[in-house]
Amino acid sequence: MTVHIGAAPGDIAETVLMPGDPLRAEWAAQTFLQDAVCVNRVRGMLGYTGTYKGNRVTIQGSGMGMPSLSIYANELIRDYGAKTLIRIGSCGGMQAHVGIRDVILAMAASTLSTPSRGIFKELNFAPCADYGLLRAAEAAAQSRDVACHVGGIYSSDVFYDERPDLNEQMTRHGILGVEMEAAELYILAARHGARALAVLTVSDHLQTGEALPSDQRERSFGDMVEIALEAAFPA
Ligand code: HPA
Repeated sequence: MTVHIGAAPGDIAETVLMPGDPLRAEWAAQTFLQDAVCVNRVRGMLGYTGTYKGNRVTIQGSGMGMPSLSIYANELIRDYGAKTLIRIGSCGGMQAHVGIRDVILAMAASTLSTPSRGIFKELNFAPCADYGLLRAAEAAAQSRDVACHVGGIYSSDVFYDERPDLNEQMTRHGILGVEMEAAELYILAARHGARALAVLTVSDHLQTGEALPSDQRERSFGDMVEIALEAAFPA
């Protein structure tokens, strides 16, 4: 048991999927895992452990934003021994060729700031995904016929953005989408020798203003969970 996770030692698997929304953790565990058991309810940030094709896996909510994700990822890695952490979440599209419902595999995550800024100070550390997970996730997306883009994303600290100029620069520099968690996950994985990847579904688009209707979100979210599970446990 840690400050924010009530699971007993051994209740958390070495492989952890991390959606922002705890109710999505519950849904994904009930939909895709066998014998899923709730291992965390502290602050309603639900976590479940079960198996996928015989492999033990935990699905633990991270909350929204890097400070929240940082708390859970730190405790999962340092106290429970998590070795592979895959964020599954939504993002806003930032390129014309990236469509709603497409999947983005975040190869690198640019930021203005992360909770790790105090360590790096003036250094611009480049948070990047684990290459083996990235490659396996791309293969899983291709075999499922899911439109998938691999490239840089932007991990922002704000959803209600007041810096349209910065978004323009991100788009100009080829950034595929914006979300709020991946960069800190990549940094923590690097610091502690773990593997990390963010698998993202484009739920809205900054240029076109399109947004995924709520009834279609679940289906797209399911593709993303399966891609993440197949990446963690390639056949
Ligand atoms: N901005 C930040 N995070 C997001 C967005 C967005 O437009 N869409 C989904 N997550």
